[in-house]
Amino acid sequence: MNKKLYNLPKYYDVAFSWDITFEIKLFQKFFKRYVPFDVKNILEPACGTGRFLVSFPEYGYHITGYDNSPEMIEYTQKRVADEGLRNRAAVITGDMRSTKFKTQFDAAINSINSLGYLLSDDDILSHLRNTGESLRSEGIYIVHLACACDKLEPCEDEGWIIEKNRIRVKTIWAIEKEDRQKKISYQVCKMEINDHGKNIVLEEQHILRLWIFEDLKSLIRKSGKFELAAIYDESHKQIPLNTHICGELGNLYYVLKAL
Ligand SMILES: C[S@@+](CC[C@H](N)C(=O)[O-])C[C@H]1O[C@@H](n2cnc3c(N)ncnc32)[C@H](O)[C@@H]1O
Repeated sequence: MNKKLYNLPKYYDVAFSWDITFEIKLFQKFFKRYVPFDVKNILEPACGTGRFLVSFPEYGYHITGYDNSPEMIEYTQKRVADEGLRNRAAVITGDMRSTKFKTQFDAAINSINSLGYLLSDDDILSHLRNTGESLRSEGIYIVHLACACDKLEPCEDEGWIIEKNRIRVKTIWAIEKEDRQKKISYQVCKMEINDHGKNIVLEEQHILRLWIFEDLKSLIRKSGKFELAAIYDESHKQIPLNTHICGELGNLYYVLKAL
């Protein structure tokens, strides 16, 4: 298969279609705990196939997403329209390095290490500044990502399987190598797809930013737009800010407060 995963929204959408109710509840808890006003209007950079765009409106929010993949945007626009959500969810083309809005959002979310696609400090800073300018003061930006492991063990991950509308996708996503000097995480995604009886295999490398907690904190500070307010793990347990943060703790939620 020549196409890349982010140009194949139909298969991405099956592979990543797990229930996000628990995650939305956590975001609502953050809105209540860290934002001094009612959160109504949410921004989602790198929104993909719009898992959050079609879910947040059910809880009464308005959400705007953007992504730099034309296929993702086309798919998500159709999904939003098909679900009758055009007045509560908007989708546009945009790149995390340069997109900013005149609208002031109350909160923003960035899930499953999408921020990691920005590799350089300059790109990350530019994204944080643009997003900070698109948020109301004291709004929050929730960023979900994993830091570098202290000791990267060979991965024996069996992956996960999801089936929807006669499309079955088995996904294995693994970290191959972490280069601390270049600050790059080399990851591989392998998908075995059965689309109405037709077998397709997709295997590709994803080159992501290797997050070192000290770098992350320093970029947040340098942006001049946010301060790190809190960190939570995926079981919704708060992690004190002075904890030694490493990949062994898994994907964590960083709550950035807009200054
Ligand atoms: C792991 S997916 C996450 C999608 C969505 N947030 C979700 O939770 O399902 C990463 C997304 O980031 C998008 N992406 C990668 N680099 C980007 C960039 N520089 N600007 C905007 N979107 C980007 C990809 O097209 C893809 O849709």
